Amino acid sequence: MQAADIINKYISFFEEKGHKKITNSPLVPQNDPTTLFTSSGMQPLVPYLLGETHPLGTRLVNVQNSFRAVDIEEIGDSTHTTFFRMLGNWSLGDYFKREEIPWFFTFLTKELKLPLEKLYVTVFEGYKDIPKDTEAAELWKELFLKAGVDPEGRILYYGTDKNWWSRSGPPEKMPAGEPGGPSTEVFYDFGTEHDPKFGEKCHVNCDCGRYVELANSVFMQYKKQEDGSLTELPKPNVDFGGGLERMVIAVENQPDVFKTSLLSPIIKAVEKQTGKSYKTHALDMRIVTDHFLAATFIINANIYPSNKDQGYILRRLIRRAFDHFSRLEGENFVPILEAVVEQYKENNPELVDNFEKIKLTIIEEVSKYSTALNKARIFIVKKYPSATSGQVGDDLMGVKEITPDDVFYLYSSHGLSPTQIKNLGYTFDEQAFADKMKAHKDLSKSGAGQKFKGGLADQQEKTIMGHTATHLMHQALRDMFGTKLHQSGSNITAERVRFDFNLDRKLTDEEVGHLENTVNEKIQQNLPVHFEMIPTEEAKKIGAIGLFEDTYQDVSKIYFIGGDSKHSEDAYSIEFCGGPHVDFTEKVKSFKIIKQEALGKGFRRIYATVG
Ligand code: ALA
Repeated sequence: MQAADIINKYISFFEEKGHKKITNSPLVPQNDPTTLFTSSGMQPLVPYLLGETHPLGTRLVNVQNSFRAVDIEEIGDSTHTTFFRMLGNWSLGDYFKREEIPWFFTFLTKELKLPLEKLYVTVFEGYKDIPKDTEAAELWKELFLKAGVDPEGRILYYGTDKNWWSRSGPPEKMPAGEPGGPSTEVFYDFGTEHDPKFGEKCHVNCDCGRYVELANSVFMQYKKQEDGSLTELPKPNVDFGGGLERMVIAVENQPDVFKTSLLSPIIKAVEKQTGKSYKTHALDMRIVTDHFLAATFIINANIYPSNKDQGYILRRLIRRAFDHFSRLEGENFVPILEAVVEQYKENNPELVDNFEKIKLTIIEEVSKYSTALNKARIFIVKKYPSATSGQVGDDLMGVKEITPDDVFYLYSSHGLSPTQIKNLGYTFDEQAFADKMKAHKDLSKSGAGQKFKGGLADQQEKTIMGHTATHLMHQALRDMFGTKLHQSGSNITAERVRFDFNLDRKLTDEEVGHLENTVNEKIQQNLPVHFEMIPTEEAKKIGAIGLFEDTYQDVSKIYFIGGDSKHSEDAYSIEFCGGPHVDFTEKVKSFKIIKQEALGKGFRRIYATVG
């Protein structure tokens, strides 16, 4: 029985009990600014759990793609994955514990045929006025007895830290308006030896890996009020969530999720590409597998790497996957992405259509990361000659203290986070760096405050923003189509930017998205902008873009975006221009392409807005 069979069994089981199947919601929630990713099946159902009428009725079932960013640091053990699929069934004020618990039990023991003696159950022990859930405990007891298994020691009570569920955790952490309630959970016992590292004695909620939580059924019947109290919802609901990956490990009696039929083909691809064995390199291989898998689904949800929100999480996943892949001395990770798609295409066939985009996005991010790491390495080695050079992603360089100013430079010019700089094997005064970051942010805020009074840029400001955006777009287009591409004209007003260039075809929607994302990414990186007066011949040599044929001057004004006056060779864009420009790219705020058109043979025109 494979993952896809478990999904089919689960959906049919609940459809037979009057449930309607709802579609898998997008991994990036729509119209919900409170959360970056869908992290459980109930998330899109919150209004209905609070009492709204659902168009499909009061019994729902689905399988939901989910991502939990909080688990990134936990990846590396045998059971956690950041991306996972959750089987869900819901009663919206319809059935309750008497139906739910026996169905839960039957699905695990009859449909999945899990051996009864391997199952343990937890129920809620009570909190303030909310009583101990003896009803749930009694229902479980009867079920075990009927099935001929002694329930003694199998049903355990826990408090709000373990047997209470809301999106924000225990009652005191719930914001006003949030629904939540007591839960009952089922654990599978692998019978493995206890690891005392996790505590003196083993118990079902122990993290040593012997017991693994399979599923959680929440009796969602309370709502947090402004005054901090919990009141009953008009109708009590059931919110069941079962980890598909966990069901697979139980069905296969395989305590390591990376060795199951679902993930082992991906691990095999990692072994093949690195020539190493999972037996001796489990930690690195788990991280590579998990992060490339999650990155695949996040790109599939139309997110691109950036320094903000979902894009930032995606960037961290790709860069972390690549660090560990490099440690394994792997060279080509594309077959690993292919293995991911192969394993997941049955339930997500769109992965096949989106594969090129997924692959190219990851390749491009890895190449940006490699460039940044190499530049950082060269910079440090030059500046601190006694540091031994080593491998990227490795700590061979030896621990060496670098100045907070240099960390700031590596951060602002190469996009390396403080953690990545530490991973390179360097230490620095973290407080001094944090102070520097704060001062930088305050400075750009106060600058923006003065200029954008009342939140609206005046006419001239908008034109200046458009000007800088044009340079970013020009560079991004050259990165996409090669350096033969050049600007053939431009016109900037406060309302829009118009930019003409040589290209013999229309940009695809994907290319437009990519171009917008790249420019926005550069805006968010808050790169410094400065100009230098440089002899025209030298400007040509350092690759400055511009129609120098049109200038008869010996010295040209060259604008640099990124780098700084001491490190202008590291700039992202170097362009011949009269200016003026914003001093930091964040002031452009945002960039959006509104139209593209043909301009006769071989030329295109793009219209865009900023701000
Ligand atoms: N919503 C519950 C969970 O995510 C079922 O565990």
